[in-house]
Amino acid sequence: MRILILHGPNLNLLGRREPAIYGRTTLAEIDDALGRIAREAGCTIECLQSNAEHELIDRIQQTLDADGRVDGIVINPAAFTHTSVALRDALAASGVPFVEVHLSMPEAREPFRHRSLLADLAVGRVSGFGARSYNYALQGLIGHLNSAASE
Ligand code: DQA
Repeated sequence: MRILILHGPNLNLLGRREPAIYGRTTLAEIDDALGRIAREAGCTIECLQSNAEHELIDRIQQTLDADGRVDGIVINPAAFTHTSVALRDALAASGVPFVEVHLSMPEAREPFRHRSLLADLAVGRVSGFGARSYNYALQGLIGHLNSAASE
């Protein structure tokens, strides 16, 4: 099983970015933890962070090609969660099951963060557990894919 981990804008700054909200764990540490979880589950992961909407969209589009194919996506769309119809359309076009993840709990923050343009397409959503949100999201996605495969 192959899983794509996508991180949106400003998440490259994790560890230094508003630590009271996002914690002190770096993106590299998050990706390392996901790699360990994936290995234990017999999966491979590919991680991509971009500040550019089109780079995230390009990678999602590549899932339609044989060499870019993945079984599932864990995505923290960051600010694009609240703004990007284009990212939503790319995920819909790919047809790949995905889990939306957030370190913070957007619904407990400013009103403009309360709306997600992706959530209704997701198989699940994890938020509010800091860096651990990613671990739970990956575990949930693997469980979902395994149960879908055994049906
Ligand atoms: C975030 C929440 C978003 O509202 C924000 O724009 C981010 C990070 C989170 O992980 O909590 O950049 O996705």
